[in-house]
Amino acid sequence: MSRAPCSGATPGSGRPRAGSPVFLTPDGSRSAHNERFGEAYGSRHGAATQARHVFVEGSGTHQHPAPRVLEIGFGLGVNFRATLADAARRGAALSYLAYEFDPAPAEVLCEVAQGGAGAGHPLWPELLRLWPGQAGAATDRVQVTHGDVTLTVQFEDVLGAGLPAGWATALYLDGFSPVRNPEVWTEAFVARLAGALAPGGVLTTYSAAGRVRRALQAAGLDVERRPGAPGKRECLRAVRPA
Ligand SMILES: C[S@@+](CC[C@H](N)C(=O)[O-])C[C@H]1O[C@@H](n2cnc3c(N)ncnc32)[C@H](O)[C@@H]1O
Repeated sequence: MSRAPCSGATPGSGRPRAGSPVFLTPDGSRSAHNERFGEAYGSRHGAATQARHVFVEGSGTHQHPAPRVLEIGFGLGVNFRATLADAARRGAALSYLAYEFDPAPAEVLCEVAQGGAGAGHPLWPELLRLWPGQAGAATDRVQVTHGDVTLTVQFEDVLGAGLPAGWATALYLDGFSPVRNPEVWTEAFVARLAGALAPGGVLTTYSAAGRVRRALQAAGLDVERRPGAPGKRECLRAVRPA
């Protein structure tokens, strides 16, 4: 029988457990190292700060009455929890669709979330209970709903996925760096992402690389540079004209 994903957690303890890929970041939030890409999932300068600044606020999701968020890729769920916490605080409905082709173990998601934004929302433990690797969990997708919040995570390569046309009020492009994972930053794929945005929808990313900016412009989006989260001078937001 598989253990509950958070059964080994030590609530309130500041340090990640020994031997875990999880590490603390300066704002008190946690992230983890990903072996496959040789990169951290979130900013080493403040994972929760990056999630809020670049993705939630950068896309205007914190002010949208009923955001529909598309995320590439779900990773450890840090961006999701930041969005969930914000929507719950405001009483806003939230639809969140994320793609993830290499789900991290539920124990890592649990450990990273300890004491963090959104981790106390009832939807979070429910997600971990249904996460791949747990007894009886599906491996193709998970969907959890609580009140007017719905999260769907599709466990597949987003490059081959049929994205919902004109749907997203916000798109979080967060698929590791253009150097380590160039496939999700190509002009062709970015054009597909632009097609998933609703008119007025906003794509946000922590990268400010020139070729990313040019790919966003080529996709017909209005691109703006904005101040980056700690450790980055700039990041990008790109709006689909209304
Ligand atoms: C930088 S991490 C995302 C961090 C995440 N947004 C969070 O808040 O924790 C990038 C994630 O994208 C996933 N990914 C990369 N390329 C992908 C692809 N082509 N299809 C689906 N997921 C992908 C990786 O497995 C990884 O979990």
